[in-house]
Amino acid sequence: MHSVLITGCNRGIGLGLVKFLVKHKDSPKLLLATCRDPDKAEALQQIAQANKNVHILQLDLKKIDTYGTFAKKVDEILQNEGLNVLVNNAGVTTKFTRINLVKVGDMEENFMVNAVAPLMLSKACLPFLKKAAEINSGESMGVKRAAIINMSSVLGSMEKNTQGGFYPYRASKAAINAISRSLSVDLKKDGILAISLHPGWVKTDMGGPNAPLTVEQSVSSIINTLLSLSESDNGCFLQYDGEKLPW
Ligand SMILES: NC(=O)c1ccc[n+]([C@@H]2O[C@H](COP(=O)([O-])OP(=O)(O)OC[C@H]3O[C@@H](n4cnc5c(N)ncnc54)[C@H](OP(=O)(O)O)[C@@H]3O)[C@@H](O)[C@H]2O)c1
Repeated sequence: MHSVLITGCNRGIGLGLVKFLVKHKDSPKLLLATCRDPDKAEALQQIAQANKNVHILQLDLKKIDTYGTFAKKVDEILQNEGLNVLVNNAGVTTKFTRINLVKVGDMEENFMVNAVAPLMLSKACLPFLKKAAEINSGESMGVKRAAIINMSSVLGSMEKNTQGGFYPYRASKAAINAISRSLSVDLKKDGILAISLHPGWVKTDMGGPNAPLTVEQSVSSIINTLLSLSESDNGCFLQYDGEKLPW
């Protein structure tokens, strides 16, 4: 992978992915890490100081009208070499999950951050992904060519929903799954792969302390899975270890 862009890198799985990738034997030449407030992203700043391939970019995913300016900054860093991988990682969830506590504002926020933003950011990054797919046309479909990885959740699976609740989160993750699938169909001709990925239940601010997986366990497994993606995975819903999940 020559270049990778990941959203939500100041904490949780996003930060874990950056930490893991800078130490990886095939560390990308360009690692673009976004966060809402770079001044407060101390751990990420430390990584960027020690690793010159890490570029921190400010991005509030809810401000869709800033994506044009953001894309110009991305373009300056990539310097016409294209973007191999876009990881739409940033996400939100709501504290209250049951029907009597569901609110319009929570539905809107979850949809905006978890589904609308990844789609619109994929659209803004499409020229860079197409460029990478073109430059690496000798590679088969996958992360060495061009790929969009949408961080979903098993809670977005219809078939696995036997517990109910979590209306805003489940619905927004089901929406990103539909989006991943459409991207995989529409962009296949351009050589760009698209999948939805469940990172596992992970000990982060979102996952909480009872989660069985550490960030390190999740991200090392995720990177192995990403490196082994091929055309047969295009349009699939996978979990961190590469296992297929039902829609
Ligand atoms: N942890 C789990 O068990 C689990 C399970 C299934 C799926 N996932 C998914 O995995 C992804 C990462 O989760 P996580 O556990 O790392 O969550 P987390 O620790 O809560 O971190 C969420 C990240 O998203 C960013 N973010 C939220 N709203 C944003 C916005 N409007 N603009 C830009 N960035 C924004 C946060 O930035 P701020 O610090 O600025 O808020 C933070 O960097 C999410 O998509 C989540 O749904 C997680």
